[in-house]
Amino acid sequence: GVEIGKLLSTTGVVTLDPGFTNTGSTTSAITYIDGDAGILRYRGYPIEQLAKQSTFIETSYLLIYGELPTETQLANFTSRINRHTLLHEDLKRFFDGFPRDAHPMPVLSSAVSALSTFYQDSLDPFNPEHVELSTVRLLAKLPTIAAYAYKKTVGQPLLYPDNSLGLVENFLRMSFGFPAEPYDVDPKLAKALDQLFILHADHEQNCSTSTVRLVGSAHANLFVSVAAGINALFGPLHGGANEAVLQMLGSIRDDGGDIDKFVQRVKAKEPGVKLMGFGHRVYKNYDPRAAIVKQTADGILESLGANDELLDLAKQLEEVALHDDYFIQRKLYPNVDFYTGLIYKAMGFPTKMFTVLFAIGRLPGWIAQWREMIQDPATKIGRPRQVYTGYTARDYVPGDNR
Ligand code: ACO
Repeated sequence: GVEIGKLLSTTGVVTLDPGFTNTGSTTSAITYIDGDAGILRYRGYPIEQLAKQSTFIETSYLLIYGELPTETQLANFTSRINRHTLLHEDLKRFFDGFPRDAHPMPVLSSAVSALSTFYQDSLDPFNPEHVELSTVRLLAKLPTIAAYAYKKTVGQPLLYPDNSLGLVENFLRMSFGFPAEPYDVDPKLAKALDQLFILHADHEQNCSTSTVRLVGSAHANLFVSVAAGINALFGPLHGGANEAVLQMLGSIRDDGGDIDKFVQRVKAKEPGVKLMGFGHRVYKNYDPRAAIVKQTADGILESLGANDELLDLAKQLEEVALHDDYFIQRKLYPNVDFYTGLIYKAMGFPTKMFTVLFAIGRLPGWIAQWREMIQDPATKIGRPRQVYTGYTARDYVPGDNR
């Protein structure tokens, strides 16, 4: 519910809505969610159809430009992206400066912020050519940055992008290949990752997207606005949940695999114990993305030859939770993060890279939302109010009298 509080310092009345549970921050024509019915559509197209029939690059075009591309539009968009995958050589040196055990998310956001220092010809939010160029540069370079962040953590040499490959294939090669050694991209793996990116591509005014819009509302450029979104996504209550799910499943396994014991701890609200990958601010029904991921998880894990005991644990956990009153009453269902980590793990990514993969997927959504915000004449700088609860006026007391 919304509480109405009075500002002490002015005569105005403000709404107080912690977490913005009922407050719309904008109008938007990009993504539609019906949380009670478990519906998600990008530009009107159901997520189920896009996940099955579209590609990540085509879905990115749809989100950013509003329509599915013709074949020519898609070919032009793809070739523009392919031309921009390289990073400036000096930017590559950034990766040497971070400790080897650094988490790749802040590495990613630092490098994305740094793009605004290297590409100063595309920073003006109100110059359409700048916006186009920074859009294409971000889409092209984020997978390269992400692969370099990964190579850094495993201490392996960086690979230049191979622009004859598609975006996902190129990313897999830069992540798992070695210089001067052939790397055959497994088409099943590439298809699965492409589908996961589609599922993550936008989700209206979530924490990271609202961050991108808020930073952008001060007319900050697209690069730094997206870097802020990456930092928001890092949090375990948001994109970091996919990593937290694997940690949770691992700790249940190490504790003897007793699901009921773990669920009791969740229900007792032990500090720091939550069923990660469950619950959502908007979905009070099965997250439609989780339904798709669950359907494909079995097939992908089987084709990758991964027989994961953690997947069995996850399924048992879901089964128990879906029949337990605590979760039923609170309408807690699996969200997109519940099964994705298991797939990323089977693909060979370390846990720390999971949220980076989410960031690659979410990028077109952040870009589309930033562009909608900057073009909307109704946009004003985001500046929430507060209800002041501190001291009223009092006089300064010199140190020797305190
Ligand atoms: N495990 C156990 N209990 C939960 C969980 C959970 N995962 N999620 C919510 N609850 C409980 C809360 O304790 C609260 O109980 P109460 O009414 O007795 O106080 C009730 O359900 C309502 O939860 P809120 O925290 O008020 O819901 P909110 O909308 O603020 O939070 C959130 C949503 C952050 C996603 C929450 O469900 C959560 O922490 N889930 C785990 C983390 C996670 O999976 N995040 C990924 C979200 S999806 C995404 O970002 C891609």
